[in-house]
Amino acid sequence: MKIIVTGGAGFIGGNFVHYMLKKYPLYKIVCLDLLTYAGNMETLASVMDNPNFTFLKGDIADREFIYNLFGAEKPDIIVNFAAESHVDRSIENPDVFLQTNIIGTSVLLDACRKYGIKRYHQVSTDEVYGDLPLDRSDLFFTEETPIHTSSPYSASKASADLLVQAYHRTFRLPITISRCSNNYGPYHFPEKLIPLMIANAMSNKKLPVYGTGENVRDWLYVEDHCSAIDLIIHNGRIGEVYNIGGHNERTNLEVVKTILRELGKEESLIEYVSDRPGHDRRYAIDPMKIKTELGWEPTTLFDVGIRKTIQWYVDNKTWWEHIMSGEYQDYYKKMYENR
Ligand code: NAD
Ligand code: TYD
Repeated sequence: MKIIVTGGAGFIGGNFVHYMLKKYPLYKIVCLDLLTYAGNMETLASVMDNPNFTFLKGDIADREFIYNLFGAEKPDIIVNFAAESHVDRSIENPDVFLQTNIIGTSVLLDACRKYGIKRYHQVSTDEVYGDLPLDRSDLFFTEETPIHTSSPYSASKASADLLVQAYHRTFRLPITISRCSNNYGPYHFPEKLIPLMIANAMSNKKLPVYGTGENVRDWLYVEDHCSAIDLIIHNGRIGEVYNIGGHNERTNLEVVKTILRELGKEESLIEYVSDRPGHDRRYAIDPMKIKTELGWEPTTLFDVGIRKTIQWYVDNKTWWEHIMSGEYQDYYKKMYENR
């Protein structure tokens, strides 16, 4: 079995590469990544000399490069993680989100048609459903919830998601799609809530909470996302969408206070800053379909996963300190200095 993993130098793709190489010693994994600001070769350092692993630098939107790659490697399965993934950056500059997330996905789909594959799996997101009100804890996203996006990021992911479904319907391409809730865990880029708050708290810097901090996210430990995708690409029904999430809802303020408590820091480090425009209020997944069809359940509860994650950032300071120098400083100033 040969799998092309796109975006494997990023957070979830990197965790997926580690997960698959460990679980399937006979599989070949080809990782393709453009190494944007979010891609990090240090995430893949420990697998670079694994004979079952190959890394290639390239752009999923570069048609010639992708066709050559498919022609040379003849992959069985494609798992597409490659994307611009941060909502705040999509508000600053939507262009690159449309280019990578939509055009990039369409190039991969065309390559799959041209060269023939067993399965194309699209890593989509629960953000394609928009948001839920804060006062309706009885409501959840199911696979039938209408697509209704809020940010340029989620709109670009929804466009890609719909293209994947169109290629199945029109060209019978063997696809599956997963829509997962917010992930956290090792190798998470420190522009996202959890790693940013851990890094700032460890450095005694202010923790910038948008608005009132009452927005709710449904947190999933990244390894549970990897195990769900593993099940879907092997046993998921072709043409189907699967929601992934584990009923671990927390307000942002609860998450931030947990991090401060675990690190023994004062709540006075919290700083309320102006809200994100169009800020989604609540995400919450109904994972019934993947549970009943594929027997998937998350194994790591939030209280356990957040401790493991904090410990990882404590033990791997050089990994995130390297990222937080250079370009990241300009980003941080632009986003937070006069907020
Ligand atoms: P990330 O930003 O950490 O990683 C993205 C990776 O894609 C990086 O390594 C980057 O270099 C690479 N990349 C970007 N543009 C590329 C291009 N044009 N060609 C090739 N590679 C390119 O993102 P992540 O958090 O690991 O998310 C991975 C996927 O999962 C994304 O598709 C995202 O939409 C989806 N997702 C993320 C979450 C989450 O909580 N992080 C939840 C649900 C779904
Ligand atoms: P984020 O990690 O960017 O993920 P997403 O927006 O895709 O869910 O943000 C998670 C939540 O945390 C979201 O409600 C926005 C909020 N947030 C802050 O309050 N402060 C921050 O500095 C960041 C990055 C996010």
